[in-house]
Amino acid sequence: MPVDMLSVSPLSMEANTESHGKNVDGYRPTTDNGFDFSKLLEVKPRSHPTIETQRSLDERSFSEQLRSPRHRQTLETVKSSDCLDGMVTPSSRSAANTPRGSTPRGFNTPRHPFEPHPMIGDAWDALRRSLVYFRGKPVGTIAAMDPTEDSLNYNQVFVRDFVPSGLAFLMNGEPEIVRNFLNKALRLQAWEKRIDCFTLGEGVMPASFKVLHDPVRNSDTMIADFGESAIGRVAPVDSGFWWIILLRAYTRSTGDHSLADTPDCQRGMRLILNLCLSDGFDTFPTLLCADGCAMIDRRMGIYGYPIEIQSLFFMALRCARTLLKPENGGKEFLERIDKRLTALSFHMREYFWLDHNQLNNIYRFKTEEYSHTAVNKFNVIPESIPDWVFDFMPMKGGYFIGNVSPARLDFRWFAIGNCCAILSALATPEQSSAIMDLFEERWQELVGDMPLKVSYPALEGHEWRIVTGCDPKNTRWSYHNGGSWPVLLWMLTAACIKTGRPQIARRAIGLVEERLSKDGWPEYYDGKLGRYIGKQARKYQTWSIAGYLVAKMMLEDPSHLGMISLEEDKKMKPSLTRSASWPPHRF
Ligand code: GLC
Repeated sequence: MPVDMLSVSPLSMEANTESHGKNVDGYRPTTDNGFDFSKLLEVKPRSHPTIETQRSLDERSFSEQLRSPRHRQTLETVKSSDCLDGMVTPSSRSAANTPRGSTPRGFNTPRHPFEPHPMIGDAWDALRRSLVYFRGKPVGTIAAMDPTEDSLNYNQVFVRDFVPSGLAFLMNGEPEIVRNFLNKALRLQAWEKRIDCFTLGEGVMPASFKVLHDPVRNSDTMIADFGESAIGRVAPVDSGFWWIILLRAYTRSTGDHSLADTPDCQRGMRLILNLCLSDGFDTFPTLLCADGCAMIDRRMGIYGYPIEIQSLFFMALRCARTLLKPENGGKEFLERIDKRLTALSFHMREYFWLDHNQLNNIYRFKTEEYSHTAVNKFNVIPESIPDWVFDFMPMKGGYFIGNVSPARLDFRWFAIGNCCAILSALATPEQSSAIMDLFEERWQELVGDMPLKVSYPALEGHEWRIVTGCDPKNTRWSYHNGGSWPVLLWMLTAACIKTGRPQIARRAIGLVEERLSKDGWPEYYDGKLGRYIGKQARKYQTWSIAGYLVAKMMLEDPSHLGMISLEEDKKMKPSLTRSASWPPHRF
């Protein structure tokens, strides 16, 4: 049935919650030179039409720029695509090196620090070409526009892929498409979802959707995939979380609460929360998941409690807390969110965190311990620690490991989980800077020639056979199995800005600018250093394009960070150090 024939049950209009517009957090990261970044996070909504700013932070030191009175006065955003307007026509992007108001320069003249990079124009053109329209309105961006490859489902709008596109449009002062997308995904959530005879939970958001145009009747209809068509038939756990995160980004960027306040959006959030906060047999506050339920959407041994989902879960809960209103059951969810956030942050910071010291502790673990006095709570057998991790772990630095469950620690490093842990403040300030230290200490391994490894290291040989089920797309150092994904640049850049280390982002962006556009914006790169265009990588992959634009815009105007970052909530600090069921109840 066409989506617009289905309606979400109407609820009454509700008043704004108190939390709107408030900065509830207290984490004050500083630059190497002591600049207080949180001042930048106190973002005002963007006044989209009035645009005047200096363009780039690329050459002078970052903190120097931020201290300058001029910069402080002019943190209003500029349309990144506008910086080319008047200088270039879509058909003559080669002139894109020309700064506004200056005369064209010779080919060999180095670019002025405030000049837009020529790739920016190409990226905006490609991003706009990827727009998908439903009944005349833009509702998303297609995953890839590769004319040379079979499209499979790459001709669909993926919820997770749209996030960097949506952020790029928000940062560029074009919120309408994000609003349309959020509304469309909400309509799809209301569909009844079935796989064979089984009905999925009400709140599940689609992994992707597609607009079908009938030229004869001149009508548009939609199809959506909730996992029933996806390889492996897994529902995307991340889609609902990304939807909430994007809703907050939209609200924060525009200052427009009317969308989040609608009864439909409030209901949509409650349905998602209902799925992930419901009681079951869990003994941990983390969310139990099937393999392939997120960005890594094939079997890769991430089943259990994957870091990517736990970070997104945490971030979505924190975003929902700022958007949910107490009416119509919202109050009960707000209480459950608070409890879960406290338990989740304790669990993650305590059991998922690995640095040199903790690795040494695990290495010396005793096994078969019982009762509340156990140090090795999950009964991890030290012999199961893989050899590579001893070499990989620097003296300075640390990260959240891939998975923690009984007798199973997955020591692999995953990019999204770690970057989102910084952005959501799931990581403490100390842990956040340790993650950034790791990037510096293990640059070759994690960044190499093309940012950023989605996971590290690759599974090889027997392990690859067992864990992936002999997946030919996920061979070692390819695709999800140690491949390098340019889209991750935006998350890395955001994490760098938040921790006051923009020089790391600049270095990564430099690598991308050497190749990405020339290579045709591939989806991923292969090899230990990410030096080869991925074997089955799509070209003109939209989130590679949007990820680059978002990274550039954030670095140029760090106040954009507030859309996608939350500061630490001091109230969340748990006083517990042991299981809450200890001491035993006395009657
Ligand atoms: C691949 C990725 C997935 C992405 C999709 C569309 O399947 O693994 O994360 O959403 O392509 O780009």
